[in-house]
Amino acid sequence: MNEINLGVTCDMHVHLRDGEMCELVTPSIRDGGVSVVYVMPNLQPPVTTVDRVVAYKKKLQELAPETTFLMSFYLCKDLSPELIHQAAVQKAIQGVKCYPAGVTTNSAAGVDPNDFSEFYPIFKAMEEENLVLNLHGERPSVGEEGNDIHVMNAEESFLPALRKLHQDFPNLKIILEHCTTEAAINTVRDINKDIKSPKDIRVAATITAHHLFLTIDDWAGNPINFCKPVAKLPSDKRALVAAAISGEPYFIFGSDSAPHPKESKAKHMGVCAGVFTQSLAIPYVAEVFDAQNALDKLKGFVSDFGLSFYGVKREDLKGQEEVILYRKDQAVPDALSNNEKLVVLLFKPCDKLKWSVKW
Ligand code: NCD
Ligand code: DOR
Ligand code: ZN
Ligand code: ZN
Repeated sequence: MNEINLGVTCDMHVHLRDGEMCELVTPSIRDGGVSVVYVMPNLQPPVTTVDRVVAYKKKLQELAPETTFLMSFYLCKDLSPELIHQAAVQKAIQGVKCYPAGVTTNSAAGVDPNDFSEFYPIFKAMEEENLVLNLHGERPSVGEEGNDIHVMNAEESFLPALRKLHQDFPNLKIILEHCTTEAAINTVRDINKDIKSPKDIRVAATITAHHLFLTIDDWAGNPINFCKPVAKLPSDKRALVAAAISGEPYFIFGSDSAPHPKESKAKHMGVCAGVFTQSLAIPYVAEVFDAQNALDKLKGFVSDFGLSFYGVKREDLKGQEEVILYRKDQAVPDALSNNEKLVVLLFKPCDKLKWSVKW
């Protein structure tokens, strides 16, 4: 097999930032072989109003006219059930992202996952509007006194909160974003054990490209590979790869491509979490599927399952073209840059990839 039509591809978790960074990375979505993206709201300040999300989408659309942008709000006290209804009616957003306070980039305004109850009226409105709740599934550590939460157990410790949310809102569509552990995979699989058809799925998980390559050893010595949640053990990586190639329709591609300026990845303190993969998103994933002899399962993971879960219809799409993956080596560049001063180091698991994309 030397050529595969992947249809309308989607990457259901991207960070496109604003300002100069946004101008640099947004056109690279198409270079990476992606048609539809779900855009994270963790700008500064976070995206929490209809006006802002509409203006942000308009700007993204100007930067990438053929890309379809699905938009989100940032869960915080600024949201109200009325605002959720209004945004849904206007089709301004497809979901709301929940960041536990303090766990990652621009998450200071986030929520306490030990007690979601103050947001239950929001979740009820979202359930009624069929919007998606995107969970950054890590429990925050609480500093000096210590709750024994650290980067390696923060995700697994969050899983009971996921189960409780699903119990309390059985019809709310929830995604455990960028999952990194065998425990998370097993939980999402278990929640879906009685699913008869993809349209019945209420709890899904996204898996990034970089977590299909990385384990703890790869970021412990390399801040370019440092992201949240951190890559974990070899056994976790094996579980992620197995889930991605399984054809189970609740495992969806979401790159969590998270650009930071080079200077923010190389400093003594406060290295920014995030791996940038946008410009080679589909070729990275293809590399892993190929190595597993599972290229026949790639279209489900990077296209069908995401479109189905979000209910994306043909008429919602900007570009109508399909993406062709074809066997052609390409070198992985060190960085994406605007040739002036902004440099974003690219994820580089190997010097060259075996697959390329064309439209
Ligand atoms: C973005 C950037 O670097 O351009 N911020 C960041 O990395 N945290 C800008 C933004 O906040 O959108
Ligand atoms: O590594 C990460 N970077 N994880 C996140 O959840 C946020 C992201 C970012 O915005 O940089
Ligand atoms: Zn996240
Ligand atoms: Zn993210």
